[in-house]
Amino acid sequence: MPDEMELQELRIHERMSKIDRKIIVMSGKGGVGKSTVTVNLANALLEKGFKVGVLDTDIHGPNIAKMFGCEGAILGSNEDGSSIVPVSPMPNLKVVSLSFALTNPDQAIIFRGPMKISVIKQFLADVEWGTLDYLLIDSPPGTGDEQLAVCQTIPDMTGSVIVTTPQKVSVLDVRRSITFSRQLGVDIIGLVENMSYLVCPDCGKHIPIFGKDGGKNVCEEMDVHFLGAVPMELGLQQDEDEGVNWIVANPNSESAKAFMGIADYIHANTKVVHTPYVPKLSSCSPSSCASCTANCPSKGSSGVHEDEE
Ligand SMILES: Nc1ncnc2c1ncn2[C@@H]1O[C@H](COP(=O)(O)OP(=O)(O)O)[C@@H](O)[C@H]1O
Ligand SMILES: [Mg+2]
Repeated sequence: MPDEMELQELRIHERMSKIDRKIIVMSGKGGVGKSTVTVNLANALLEKGFKVGVLDTDIHGPNIAKMFGCEGAILGSNEDGSSIVPVSPMPNLKVVSLSFALTNPDQAIIFRGPMKISVIKQFLADVEWGTLDYLLIDSPPGTGDEQLAVCQTIPDMTGSVIVTTPQKVSVLDVRRSITFSRQLGVDIIGLVENMSYLVCPDCGKHIPIFGKDGGKNVCEEMDVHFLGAVPMELGLQQDEDEGVNWIVANPNSESAKAFMGIADYIHANTKVVHTPYVPKLSSCSPSSCASCTANCPSKGSSGVHEDEE
C-alpha cells in the first residue's frame, strides 16, 4: 500500500501538471526586491491576460499578502476538507502564504528546516491551484531549505529569476544563487537588476545610488541573460505597503515598463513542459487507499483499479 509520502508526491504531480510555467524568484540577499519582483511580475502577467498563482515561501518574513492588499485574508478549504482554497485578491490571481494561517501578524514563526519543507510540500500538494499559466514562487534570501524544497519537489520547473541590486555585496551573494540553480538543474531564465538607479524627480537624471551595472556585469561573467534594470521609484514602497497595484497605478513609470518587458521576455523564451508522471507507487486500490486520486497511476488503461474490474 502506498505511504503518505508517495501519495503526496502523486498529488503534487497532479496539481503541478495543470500549471504551465513554474518559476522561483531568488536572491542571495534580503531587501533587494525579490517580493517586489514577484508581485510586479505577477501583476504584469495578469495585465497580459494570464492566470497566475503566487506562492510565498518566505516563511519567516511573508510580505506577499500585504503587497497584494490581502493581508488578514484566510485560506479556505473545499467541501470535503481535502484541499486548501487559495486567497484570490483579484480575478485570475491565486495567492498562498503562510501569513494567511497566522492569527496575529506579529506572530514569530519558529520553524526548523524539516517543518519548512513539509509546509511547502503541503502548499504544493493540497492547494487547489487549478489551471494556471504561471506559478511564481517568492523565496527568502539565500539558498536554503525553502529553495531546495521548491526546486527538488516541483516537477518540470521552468526556471529561476535571480534578483540583485547593483551593489557589490548583493552581486557577490547572487553568484551563489546562480551556482545553486545550476547545481539543481533549474534553468536560469535571467537576472533582474533592481534599484538600478533613481530617476531624479526634478531633472530626470539617473542617479546610481547602489553603484552601476553590478547586475549586468555578473550576467556577462557567468553567462546569464540580463532581464532588465528596474529603477528605484519614489512611491513604489508606499504603494506596496498599501497593497496598490503599481503597474496599473503607474503604467508609464520606467519600472512598470521594465516589468512588462520582463514578462514578455519570459513568456516568449520559456517552454511549457509536462513530463508524464512515472509512478513509484507499488500498489494502490480503492479498498486500501482512501486518498486515491483521479489520475492514480495504478489504474489500468480502462481507468479503474484492478480490484474494481
Ligand atoms: N524598485 C524599487 N523602487 C523602490 N522601492 C523598492 C524597489 N524595489 C524594492 N523596493 C522596496 O525595498 C524594500 C525591500 O523590497 P522587497 O521586495 O521586500 O525585498 P526582498 O523580498 O528581497 O526582501 C521594500 O520596502 C520595497 O517596497
Ligand atoms: Mg521578500
